[in-house]
Amino acid sequence: MTSPELHFPEGFLWGTATSSHQVEGGNVNNDWWLWEHDPGHIHDHSRSGAACEWWCGRAEEDVALAARLGQNAHRLSVEWSRLEPAFGVYDPEAFARYRRLFEHMRALGVEPMVTLHHFTLPRWAAKVGGWTNRVVVQRFSALAAQCARRLGDLVTMWCTINEPVVLVYNAYAGRQWPPGTGRFDVGLRALRHLLRAHAAAYHAIHDVQPEAQVGMVFNMPLVEPARPGHPLDRLVAFLQDWVFNEVKVRALREGRLVWPLAWPAREVVGLREACDFVGLNYYGRYLVRFAAEAPGSLFGRHVQEPTVRLGGTDWGQVAPAGLTKHLLRLRPLGVPLYVTENGVCDAHDTVRPHFLVEHVRAVHRAIQAGADVRGYFHWSLVDNFEWAEGWSARFGLLALNPFTQERLLRQSAEVYAHICRTNSVPADSASPEQ
Ligand code: FCB
Repeated sequence: MTSPELHFPEGFLWGTATSSHQVEGGNVNNDWWLWEHDPGHIHDHSRSGAACEWWCGRAEEDVALAARLGQNAHRLSVEWSRLEPAFGVYDPEAFARYRRLFEHMRALGVEPMVTLHHFTLPRWAAKVGGWTNRVVVQRFSALAAQCARRLGDLVTMWCTINEPVVLVYNAYAGRQWPPGTGRFDVGLRALRHLLRAHAAAYHAIHDVQPEAQVGMVFNMPLVEPARPGHPLDRLVAFLQDWVFNEVKVRALREGRLVWPLAWPAREVVGLREACDFVGLNYYGRYLVRFAAEAPGSLFGRHVQEPTVRLGGTDWGQVAPAGLTKHLLRLRPLGVPLYVTENGVCDAHDTVRPHFLVEHVRAVHRAIQAGADVRGYFHWSLVDNFEWAEGWSARFGLLALNPFTQERLLRQSAEVYAHICRTNSVPADSASPEQ
């Protein structure tokens, strides 16, 4: 007997997500390329190198495969260091390369959702202080306008900035990503600028392309007290959630920077409701316990067994209910929502098929409860260069051998294909047919 299906709204977008530096290869002109070449920065000592060879033509093949697997959308990013290789100088060839790719996607019936900033900066921007410098905010909104002007006939969905808090946490407050400043105050400054950059880019795009849909992408882990009845665990869980999740939601909803970004709260010109949709990246849950000796992590330590822990990274515990919860938390923003990333690091594909089905069901539950969710993008289509983890963290529906560029379908690619093709997921815990 086949189980009943949970159907998704007509026109729902089913896709996968990637980012330029992680898949294109040869991004020699950005800050990450320099960072990777400094020993000690990448845990497995690998480099992005040719990545998945998307820039030199494999993007088209992979996207065609995604289309054959039933996907009708793909989230990807454009590489700022290619589009504006020197301050104020745009490269028409780079724009033309992206045009070819987006035309190809459209011909395949794969809607592009395009991110303008996914962690990497051109070298010239990094040299002047990256997101700590206001000039970079201005250049970013100029870039957004250029993209709308030159690519807007092919792209209607733009994500301005990917995961501003994750970026700031790792790169400015922390030392894991470039520039590795390691200062909380510098991190706050960078975050203020990223939020301003979003607002500026939002309006810059709309000036050129009024019909565009422009949003920002947030990574929102579920943070909960390890001992639910313990007041101090509750307090640190609240604090971590506030700093990691709530601050940016408030920024969008109220157009204001709240503590710790500003005290007293301060308005950012043009930020309020500067959002046609919100993208949610959701990976998992952190259980947090009070730790007096850990002021740097707001007096909390994560105590659960992580899903995966490679090098220094912990993507959290598998907890699909958190996805439903956060989609409902974003609902009061009153704009459409997309799950712009969700996935698991799992080279052997042992947990991914189940993970995928459970998270898609979690999206369905959110829709049933009233959240206006319009699409789901699994991270990722193909194994790619996973930042400080290098090539050791495997998130793809397609397994990639970066030396031979050979791709192999993981079982979860077929599981996802069934979901995409039928626009539904089985209601019970049995795996969908393949
Ligand atoms: C997200 C990033 C994406 C990838 C996944 C695993 O936080 O946006 O580039 O690294 O995690």
